[in-house]
Amino acid sequence: MDDLKSKYLTLIADAGDENTLEDLRVQALGKKGEISLQMRELGKMTPEERQTAGPALNALKNEINSALAAKKSGLQDAALDERLRSEWLDVTLPSRQRPAGTIHPISQVTDEVTAIFADMGFSVAEGPQIESDWYNFDALNIPGHHPARAEMDTFYTHRKEGDNRPPHVLRTHTSPVQIRSLEANGAPIRIICPGRVYRADYDQTHTPMFNQVEGLAIDKDISMANLKWVLEEFVKAFFEVDDVELRFRASHFPFTEPSAEVDIRCSWEGGTLKVGEGDDWLEILGSGMVHPKVLTAAGVDPNEYQGFAFGVGIDRIAMLKYGVPDLRAFFDSDLRWLRHYGFRSLDVPTLDGGLSR
Ligand code: PHE
Repeated sequence: MDDLKSKYLTLIADAGDENTLEDLRVQALGKKGEISLQMRELGKMTPEERQTAGPALNALKNEINSALAAKKSGLQDAALDERLRSEWLDVTLPSRQRPAGTIHPISQVTDEVTAIFADMGFSVAEGPQIESDWYNFDALNIPGHHPARAEMDTFYTHRKEGDNRPPHVLRTHTSPVQIRSLEANGAPIRIICPGRVYRADYDQTHTPMFNQVEGLAIDKDISMANLKWVLEEFVKAFFEVDDVELRFRASHFPFTEPSAEVDIRCSWEGGTLKVGEGDDWLEILGSGMVHPKVLTAAGVDPNEYQGFAFGVGIDRIAMLKYGVPDLRAFFDSDLRWLRHYGFRSLDVPTLDGGLSR
């Protein structure tokens, strides 16, 4: 019996896991276990023999049971310690960044344009998107029969029955802000007017609402040469190139005289636009010297002051800079798509120096 005791106590002490312990329990105390078999032998003994063997076997059984229980809880404690050592959480770590809403690409490009012109001394002026006929057309020397006024080109609001004033329009350009700013501040003036404009158009490069930035510089001694320099500086800064060639093509706008459309030298080799090299020309804006009638309409004496104006499509130059083929992407697409075109500001920097998407 002493042999059995030391055999099992050693085996239990050496057991490395709970499964081994359970096997040992079955081997010793299970139905066919070594100790159970000996218990069964008690029946064959004389009462005297039984008197000593019985309690001794019971004591052995208890001893093995408590050794098993002690070892089992020892193993469980060790397992818990091991888990505590390996599974830990540093609650002082900063949380992972989740991408939040970010600036719209058009707003980003508007900011870029604004910053460039601010460097050249232009401030930002804004005006209403619902304009009167006068500010949108008449004051800008756009005559009543001009096609821009036709309903197929322009969105008109309705007047109440019996109200015979001319209807308001959704402004077709930001040029009315020129008039409003000159009226409010007079000359000299140097402003850009970014904002939404509306025309009844819808295709790959036209949406009914789009964005323009118009520039205006009026002073006593301003010429086309100043216009050319300002536009060159702008194009170089915006497209991030050291040199650029501009082409001024004679054109017509009612509100400027002379008028010029401006193209930039570019290449489309490999399907991507490169500004400043190649044999293609890309039209990017309209410009000219402000018509004396426009200055007069805005309360400025054209004999004393003159200057230039220009208008650029923000969406258009954004498409060109970032290679977006369809203007509609800006207004009805999802962010992943725009990100594909490299709008970096959509991505939030993470702590490890990467970008979360
Ligand atoms: N207002 C013109 C347009 O929307 C652009 C322009 C502005 C042209 C100023 C010349 C001078 O097309």
